[in-house]
Amino acid sequence: MKNKKLILIQGLGVIGSINAFCIAHKNYNDQVIGFEANDKIGDEIINKIKKGKFPFKSKDKKLRLVVNSVKKNKNLIATNNYEIIKQNKSPDIVICCLALKYFSTKKKQMVENSKFIKNFSQIIQNINHKTLIIVQTSLPPGFSKKYLIPMASKTLKKNTKGKFDVPLYSYSYERVTPGHRIVDSFLKMQRVFACNNIKSKKLFKSFFSKILNFNNSLLELDDITECETCKILENSYRATNIAFLNEWMDYSKKLKLNLNKILEFIRLRPTHSNIRYPGLGVGGFCLTKDPMFGKYSMNEIFKFKYDKFNFSTNSIIINRNMINHTIEIINDELINLKKKRILLVGITYLDGSDDIRKSPSLELGRILKTKFGSDVVYYDNFYSKKLQNLNKINFEKDYFDAVIFCVKGSFQNNVLKSKVIKKTKLILDTNQIFDKKITNYLKKLNKKFIILGDYKY
Ligand SMILES: NC(=O)c1ccc[n+]([C@@H]2O[C@H](COP(=O)([O-])OP(=O)(O)OC[C@H]3O[C@@H](n4cnc5c(N)ncnc54)[C@H](O)[C@@H]3O)[C@@H](O)[C@H]2O)c1
Repeated sequence: MKNKKLILIQGLGVIGSINAFCIAHKNYNDQVIGFEANDKIGDEIINKIKKGKFPFKSKDKKLRLVVNSVKKNKNLIATNNYEIIKQNKSPDIVICCLALKYFSTKKKQMVENSKFIKNFSQIIQNINHKTLIIVQTSLPPGFSKKYLIPMASKTLKKNTKGKFDVPLYSYSYERVTPGHRIVDSFLKMQRVFACNNIKSKKLFKSFFSKILNFNNSLLELDDITECETCKILENSYRATNIAFLNEWMDYSKKLKLNLNKILEFIRLRPTHSNIRYPGLGVGGFCLTKDPMFGKYSMNEIFKFKYDKFNFSTNSIIINRNMINHTIEIINDELINLKKKRILLVGITYLDGSDDIRKSPSLELGRILKTKFGSDVVYYDNFYSKKLQNLNKINFEKDYFDAVIFCVKGSFQNNVLKSKVIKKTKLILDTNQIFDKKITNYLKKLNKKFIILGDYKY
């Protein structure tokens, strides 16, 4: 086809993959090529896409429709062979969905930054003056202007023999929420963006307004650093909002208050409707690192040494330690945790996703095992990869001193009728998992059924 666009996507983690599938689905006349790393993880992802599958498990029913339509169109290829870039025409669109990790030491972060920039240089190697680059990775604000735009400018100059040196660059972070609504979180969520000039803005708008075809879907910021900041602030706000509840959980536990009911009433006030819930803290890849990027940007990119970014950076520490609150409750109830058999139900960081990065329940299990000498078994019937001590359980024969429910959707309701649940000393709901009916059932079944946040037991 004459106007067939060539779209390259780099990094097919959950974010790159949802980009690749949704863009190939919406732009069925275009060719999408997704690039992965040349390693075991990359190979697994590529093989799944080659088989016409989405490489990550998700409970989103809409995902099947999107994946099937792409399979039918045959317009998505996944590869780790960067050589094919040279064999093709210059790409129309290049999308970077790599991950930039955060390290607390300056040296390690510099190594990570260099690795990222080197990888980025591979995907832009064949750009010309009409190629639009869209970077979606969460970055310390200032990163694009300091590293990525100069790199793209150098490449463009080389590719056009000095004729052009201003690449068409845009930064537009994604707002994907893996799990039950991953497709809608991509296709129906407004997208914030910023571009380096009028031409890139025009191209960006034309490309994304067809993918997100609803009113006011594109929110423009004037400056690329502003847009990078928007992402980091958005995630820092969320992480801080969660961390804020930690001290109120400790307070309410000491005073034996029902914090859940208090919060329910606070949420009714429109200005306070998004106050968070008591829980195990924060998991996943983003909220556990992005709040550090504000400080990193301030100190290392813009060289303002004095700013500590107290709220954002402390949110990470508080969220990591939030687990201790739950450990205290288990310890109070079982008196001594040594050799106690504990079943943790749900190991992913989010319901409906198979991501276990920084999973709070796995961390809870690790602490119970290593610090307290407990015998921990995990159960999760959604997570399908192999893991030590996972699903080695017979619900009709085994005994556990405590069953800790961590993730909704990680078990089937018949588990609740099993002997394990009937015989255990303590059942703890750490994540507002059960509705009123099941709560009443469990209360009748076991006198030690505790819901995190309700300390009137
Ligand atoms: N996971 C989420 O829920 C989520 C949500 C919102 C935003 N984000 C942000 O989106 C970005 C991507 O997140 P993710 O979870 O998909 O990360 P990820 O680490 O899972 O994905 C990155 C992928 O890039 C691949 N890769 C590494 N080197 C490569 C190379 N040279 N060429 C091609 N591929 C290469 C890796 O194998 C990996 O699969 C991050 O900045 C993250 O903070 C993630």
